[in-house]
Amino acid sequence: MARLLVTGGAGYIGSHTAVALLEAGHEVVSLDNYSNSSPRALERVSRIAGRPLTAVEGDVRDAALLKRLFAQQPFDGVIHFAALKAVGESVSKPLAYYDNNVAGTLALLQAMQSAAVTCFVFSSSATVYGAPDELPITEQAPIRSTNPYGATKVMVEQMLRDLAAADAAWSVVSLRYFNPIGAHPSGEIGEDPNDIPNNLFPFICQVAAGRRERLAVFGNDWPTADGTGVRDYLHVADLAAGHLRAFDFARRRRGFTPVNLGTGRGVSVLQLVHAFEAATGRSIPFSIVERRPGDIAACWADPSAAARLLGWRAERSIEQACADGWRWQSRNPDGYRGEAAT
Ligand SMILES: NC(=O)c1ccc[n+]([C@@H]2O[C@H](COP(=O)([O-])OP(=O)(O)OC[C@H]3O[C@@H](n4cnc5c(N)ncnc54)[C@H](O)[C@@H]3O)[C@@H](O)[C@H]2O)c1
Repeated sequence: MARLLVTGGAGYIGSHTAVALLEAGHEVVSLDNYSNSSPRALERVSRIAGRPLTAVEGDVRDAALLKRLFAQQPFDGVIHFAALKAVGESVSKPLAYYDNNVAGTLALLQAMQSAAVTCFVFSSSATVYGAPDELPITEQAPIRSTNPYGATKVMVEQMLRDLAAADAAWSVVSLRYFNPIGAHPSGEIGEDPNDIPNNLFPFICQVAAGRRERLAVFGNDWPTADGTGVRDYLHVADLAAGHLRAFDFARRRRGFTPVNLGTGRGVSVLQLVHAFEAATGRSIPFSIVERRPGDIAACWADPSAAARLLGWRAERSIEQACADGWRWQSRNPDGYRGEAAT
């Protein structure tokens, strides 16, 4: 049993991880400014898990608030999800991204250091590999960024590597997520984009729900089997379970450890569309449009380090992710905005 600070706990991945942590018997304190989420998500997390959590509204860049939080209660570790994550927006608003993602993490690490809390699990991303030279991607592949969002993840990883090298008390696991999709099987929590979704899966869900007319597929002339982009999609519940394993690992081992969380299988845009149609019975009209600048042809993980170090493997299928994601979308057509405050 541990007490964990979970930043960004109301967000898409944070909320699913909070359920998994509560179900495993841990105590969860969520710190979220709700800039891209709703406190309703946390009410539902408690409902699913059948246990309460503590929800603190605030910003990870607020050093005074962090100092108070760490002084009030001892934490065994921190799982840090809070960040801005839209690649396109990061190109037009780079300073907002460096401030939120880099300065926010720095403030958090400083508060942790002052409170002698040295166990840290970080939400990194496969974006740190840029356009990969080789597939599948191992943790030893070169790190580079192709946009300001990616640069914030690269910078934070550097900060974490330096910190763990300087002070042997720190144990840091940097989880490099591939492409999380789907939702909790209850249909109670899921991804709730504020705006036009940046990612393929929520876009497909909104087309299925009739909120958008058709899916835009960015290019069918990539060097892949069917010409559309290939990614490594994993069920968000599997990703959530990976955080539990990573926290257990961080409690036992010191140093900086980057770990890929993916299935090890590449799935094309059209394969995902067809899997969604088969799992839900909805049809997804689509049009082929120009490639997006900065996109890459294919990207999938070598997940063997996660199996070896964390004892973790993705277990759920793409079809399951599609069915679960659709359950969330169809029951909550307006996301959490559809529910009145309680
Ligand atoms: N979703 C993906 O495909 C994906 C892939 C790779 C990495 N990641 C990373 O995983 C993490 C979680 O992503 P997500 O998809 O759950 O995003 P999300 O936007 O749903 O969740 C992020 C949460 O952090 C909160 N937040 C943002 N800035 C904050 C701040 N300064 N102080 C307090 N709270 C703040 C938001 O309100 C939100 O609840 C992010 O770090 C993201 O970069 C996500």
